[in-house]
Order: sequence, then C-alpha cells, then structure tokens
Amino acid sequence: MHVLVVLAHPESASFNGHLARLAETTLTAAGHTVEISDLYQQEFGAVAGLADFTEPLSTDYFDLQAQQRAAVANRTFAPDVQAEMDKLRRCDLLLFQFPLWWHSVPAILKGWIDRVLAVGFAYGGVKELAGKRALVSLTSGTPEHLWDGVTLPTLESTLSHLLRGTLAFCGMAVYEPFMIGGVKQLSPEQRAQAEVDFVEMLHHLPQRRLIF
Ligand SMILES: Cc1cc2nc3c(=O)[nH]c(=O)nc-3n(C[C@H](O)[C@H](O)[C@H](O)COP(=O)(O)O)c2cc1C
Repeated sequence: MHVLVVLAHPESASFNGHLARLAETTLTAAGHTVEISDLYQQEFGAVAGLADFTEPLSTDYFDLQAQQRAAVANRTFAPDVQAEMDKLRRCDLLLFQFPLWWHSVPAILKGWIDRVLAVGFAYGGVKELAGKRALVSLTSGTPEHLWDGVTLPTLESTLSHLLRGTLAFCGMAVYEPFMIGGVKQLSPEQRAQAEVDFVEMLHHLPQRRLIF
C-alpha cells in the first residue's frame, strides 16, 4: 500500500519526528511505499483564506466553501494545497503523527485539514477519500492511564472531532488511535519499549480495530 505520513511538529529531532521516520523505515521494509508531509519543514500555511486560490472568485463576500468548490472544478488551488491533495489521492493509508496540544492537533495540522480537505474533494457530494484508511498516532504529556473516562475523557472521546468529525466524515475507515503518553517522563527503557510497540502496531495494522 501507499502511505502518506503527515507530521506536525516544529522540531525534527523530537520524539514525533522520530516516530514519523520510524514509520517510514518500518513500512518501507515491509514492502510499502511512504511519503511524508513534514508540515513545519514545508512551512505549510495554517490559515485558510484567499491565498489558497490562484484564481479566486471575484465576489465582495469571501465564502471559503464556494471558493473551494470552484477551485476543485477549475484546479485553481494554490500549489501547496494542490500538492497535498495529490498526495492524498495517491495514498491508501493516511497517518497523522503529532503531539497532543490542548487536547487537539497543533494548529498547523488543523490548517492542513481546513485547507486540504476541501468541500467537493473530501466531503460535500464528492468524497474522493472514501474507502481509504486513516491512523492517528500521537504523543501526550499526560500518562496514558489517566485517559480513563473519569480523570480525563477517553482518548476516542477527546479526539472525536478528528476521528469522527473529520476522518470518518470524509468516508475514511478509521483505526483505533495509537498514543504514547507521558512522553517527557519516559525512561530510556520505556521509550525504547514504546518504539517497539509502535513498530508492532504498524506490522499488525490490518488486524487493528476500526472504530469507524
Ligand atoms: C502548546 C502545547 C499544548 C499541550 N497540550 C497538551 C494537552 O492538552 N494534553 C497533554 O497531555 N499534553 C499536552 N502537551 C504536552 C505535549 O503533548 C508533549 O510535550 C508532547 O507530546 C511530547 O512530544 P515531543 O517530545 O515529540 O514534543 C502540550 C504541549 C504544548 C507545547
């Protein structure tokens, strides 16, 4: 299969950067093909707007969805948006790798969602991503056991906007998310074990539970 890894972390040497590269080497060694969108390295714009279009509709009122529909029809998305759409079209599996920020995704990834998952492409009549698979892989500062539905909401509940509201809404089959918690407190041994768990998870992905 062909995998698109979308990495959202400002530091290439971070644990998230390391996990993205580990995904690439693991999946490539297993016979798959992988491309990485390293959003910070690409200086990907996080704010949807007029600059997303090479030939915006000339109207007094800026309607993002109307602009997106026209740009899908005319292929008039800005090159950075168009490139990400083309990568998405190529992939069988979309893998998000990011640190949990404020119980959500870093703004640069939210911007990627706003700008790339355009109406008329990803949802709204046409769903070009339908049938593809999606895996959300993240790290958090909070230890895993605290996401128990009491102390903190469950992870699936916390990420519902992403898992259900975005990925499943676009018709993708969504795997149970994979989280490495309490990252900053991990001993070298625990971190090594987390990496083993990550690789194992990737090796057994076809058997992983689909939540949507
Ligand atoms: C802006 C910001 C917001 C954060 N919000 C959360 C949060 O809501 N929950 C949490 O458990 N950790 C939170 N963290 C901690 C990060 O998730 C944690 O430092 C990161 O996963 C570690 O991965 P890294 O070493 O690759 O940066 C936050 C960190 C930052 C910088």
